Amino acid sequence: MLLHEVKPQTIIELGAFNGGSGVWLADCLEIMGIKGNIYEVDIDLSLLDEKAKANSRVNFLQGDCNKLEEVFPPEMLVKFPHPWLVIEDAHVNLIAVADYFHNNGFQNGYYLIIEDTNKYMWEAWDGNWDDSE
Ligand SMILES: C[S@@+](CC[C@H](N)C(=O)[O-])C[C@H]1O[C@@H](n2cnc3c(N)ncnc32)[C@H](O)[C@@H]1O
Repeated sequence: MLLHEVKPQTIIELGAFNGGSGVWLADCLEIMGIKGNIYEVDIDLSLLDEKAKANSRVNFLQGDCNKLEEVFPPEMLVKFPHPWLVIEDAHVNLIAVADYFHNNGFQNGYYLIIEDTNKYMWEAWDGNWDDSE
């Protein structure tokens, strides 16, 4: 529903892992007839599934969320079509990540989704998260 409402022309997801969510987002955009660009970032792209790698609709970028200005320099972001949707699923450097997009293109009405914030789920998984603060 959010994709349908926002109709993002740029989706940035931090934390690509196997690439499954990137491919899912690309499928959703296609179904809804939205011609958006998808950027998936991970510090370690070696985990990427071969099928995801071969998906031409998703741009996978290796980079560190602690150095977002290297992954998405402001001169790159300024060219990204609006509106944007940003999904944070790396659980790293959250405040600085929000600040970075806020200062480099985010506009009223855009969404920054922060995944896995339910502390009860963290406990259920294994209670051993070093970024749970
Ligand atoms: C929860 S997984 C992402 C899952 C994926 N979005 C999905 O739904 O299938 C978190 C990912 O964040 C990546 N990650 C951890 N630290 C990172 C960092 N500093 N910068 C970028 N990615 C990082 C990990 O390598 C891991 O693949």
